[in-house]
Amino acid sequence: MQLEQRKIVLGICGGIAAYKCPELCRLLIKQGADVYSVVTPSAAQLVSPTTLQALTGHAVGCEVFNHGDEIGHIELCADADALVIAPATANTIAKLAHGMADNMLTAAALAAPCPIIIAPAMNSRMYRHPATQANLELLQQRGVFIIPPAEGPLACGESGIGRMREPAEIVAYICALLNRNGLPFAENTLLPRPEAPLELTSQKLLPKANGAGLRVLITAGPTEEPIDPVRVITNKSSGKMGFALAEAARKRGANVTLIAGPVSLPTPAQVNRINVKTAQDMYDAVKAKLDDVDIVIGCAAVSDYRLAYVYPQKLKKEEQGDSLTLTLIKNEDIISMVGHANPRPFTVGFAAETMHGPEHAKEKLQRKNLDLIALNDVSRHDVGFNTDDNALLVYDKDGQVADLPKAPKRVIAAQLMDLIFDMFRKGTTQKEKHA
Ligand code: C5P
Repeated sequence: MQLEQRKIVLGICGGIAAYKCPELCRLLIKQGADVYSVVTPSAAQLVSPTTLQALTGHAVGCEVFNHGDEIGHIELCADADALVIAPATANTIAKLAHGMADNMLTAAALAAPCPIIIAPAMNSRMYRHPATQANLELLQQRGVFIIPPAEGPLACGESGIGRMREPAEIVAYICALLNRNGLPFAENTLLPRPEAPLELTSQKLLPKANGAGLRVLITAGPTEEPIDPVRVITNKSSGKMGFALAEAARKRGANVTLIAGPVSLPTPAQVNRINVKTAQDMYDAVKAKLDDVDIVIGCAAVSDYRLAYVYPQKLKKEEQGDSLTLTLIKNEDIISMVGHANPRPFTVGFAAETMHGPEHAKEKLQRKNLDLIALNDVSRHDVGFNTDDNALLVYDKDGQVADLPKAPKRVIAAQLMDLIFDMFRKGTTQKEKHA
């Protein structure tokens, strides 16, 4: 599978070739992609949104103003790896070239921070028309990838250039593009080459490899402190932020170890995962790796206390009566141990606060001897614990260094990893200069 962990948004316009899109969806999913589809109003006449929804498992976007459960046009591509528009009609190509946003697809395309790949399909005179050609050229100059149409029989009964490439060819193109890691396409490939200017494409295509050669250790999720064989003390962390950081660090070329508390999330591709339960297990696992890492990010919501005594048998309420007193003792602070280690890696902590966030975060940065701290406002219900979105304020010892406003955790993770790698590298060059 070549598109594992990739989110692909498939935009479908109202050309006859739209009937091939369920197959295109199926092939993308077969490669492991998480596919979201969006149709123009005319495409909805040609391909059933019900079919697309059943295939992808996600609501299908169409109009910009919709009160259904579908995702809005700004968020749709915010964390996507690519927006693929197939078939792309002359009409939509013209709208894309001129920045129009009159339906969900064109609006999403205008807001898309990811690479855009289009597969035009239309009658040959429409394709050759100077207006269409000028629009395509404009899009290409802006870094849009164009999969040129093939020659052959067309839906209008004529024959000529304008047939959408076959779904298998389009999928092969997407795989090659997203997995090429900056290398040019092989000379002998049958695929159309990306035709956008190279500096634009490499900048848009893949995250910068700013983590290449670095060893990153991330703690994630909650911990569980046993009370007796069936009960635990834990917290509301879902682990999503730490897992998103591990994925972002890996995509940037780092060697990543993820020490995860009990969560049921899939391990990001090519990440070395170590499962732990208690804070002590997590402490031991971090300590064992400490000499072999450059950066440690403490994203886990570690239980601050554990039971002084773990009951070997299940506690019976009949025996305990109306109240039960448990004695808790403090766990070691993992990230503080990392921050005070010698030699110490670049150390990043998180602070989840309900009030006086900046003061608490700065105090923790000092006390735990961190290089950076990311502050989560957990009193908000729309971000932080157990949600898909987050918003962070990031501080170093001199004050605030970044304000990352509300966005999906994958997007926040990408921004935070870029910041961490950039600061790590700046720190190393400073040290080299002073040496
Ligand atoms: O002090 P507080 O728990 O709010 O600090 C949060 C930060 O410290 C997070 O980065 C968390 O992963 C880390 N932490 C830790 N070990 C603990 C408690 C917190 O590493 N025992």
